[in-house]
Amino acid sequence: NLGVINIPVYVHVIYNNSQENISDAQVNSQIAVLNDDFRASNSDVNQVPNEFAGLVADSEIQFTLAGITRKASSRTSWGTNDAMKSSANGGVDVITPETHLNIWVCNIGGGILGYAQFPGGSASTDGVVVSPQYFGKQGYVSAPFDKGRTTTHEVGHYLNLRHIWGDGRCKRDDFVADTPSSDGPNYGCPSYPTVNCRSNDMTMNYMDYVDDACMYMFSEGQKARMRDLFGAGGARESMLN
Ligand code: ARG
Ligand code: ZN
Ligand code: CA
Repeated sequence: NLGVINIPVYVHVIYNNSQENISDAQVNSQIAVLNDDFRASNSDVNQVPNEFAGLVADSEIQFTLAGITRKASSRTSWGTNDAMKSSANGGVDVITPETHLNIWVCNIGGGILGYAQFPGGSASTDGVVVSPQYFGKQGYVSAPFDKGRTTTHEVGHYLNLRHIWGDGRCKRDDFVADTPSSDGPNYGCPSYPTVNCRSNDMTMNYMDYVDDACMYMFSEGQKARMRDLFGAGGARESMLN
C-alpha cells in the first residue's frame, strides 16, 4: 500500500490576451478541484445513484502547486500538436516530468477543451493541456465546462484511464471491470438510468463526456488502474519520493 500519493504540479500559462493570462486564484481553484475530485471530497459526490455508490473511490492521489510560469505569445490558438510544450516552437518546455505533472493552459481552439498524453510517451511532451476558459472554477471560465472537470478528466488520462465506453462499441473495453460497458460518450446532463449495452451507464464518471456539473466520481477499478502506475515497474514509479 503506497498510502496517499502527492503529485507536484507546474502550470504553464501561455496567453495571447489578458483574459487568457488567468489569475493565480483561477489556477489555485483548479488545484482545489483536482484534490476534491481525486479524494472524493467533492460536494456533489452524494448525487451518485445507489447502484454505483459502493464503487465511489477516494483515489488517495493529491496535488500540490509547485509553480506557475507565464508567457505572452502572439499565437491565438495552438491546436493539439504539442507546440505549446516546446520553447523552440513558441511554447514552454516541460519541467522535470519524472517527478512533476506539467499542465499547459493555452487556447487550443477548434472547440477542444483539453487533451492529455497517456503514460509511457515521450518525456518532452508528458502532461496535459487545457484551454484557459475550461481551467479552474473562477475567473475566465465558460459554462457548462466551468467547474474544473476538464482537468480532472485529462489528469485521468495522464494516469492511464480510458474513456468509460472504451472508445468503441459495447465489447470494446476501458480495462476497468467496475465501469459498465457502453458504446459511446454521453453529453449534457443525462438522467439516470441511461441504458446502453444492456446495462446502466456510469454517466457521472469523470471519464465520460457529460457537462462538468454532471460528472462526480472515479470508480474503485479506476483507482486501482491509476495507482498501478506508481508501483514497482509502473510508468510513473519515479514520481514517488
Ligand atoms: N478531452 C475532452 C475534450 O476535449 C475533454 C472532455 C471534458 N469534459 C468535461 N465535461 N469537462 O473533448
Ligand atoms: Zn478524454
Ligand atoms: Ca468497464
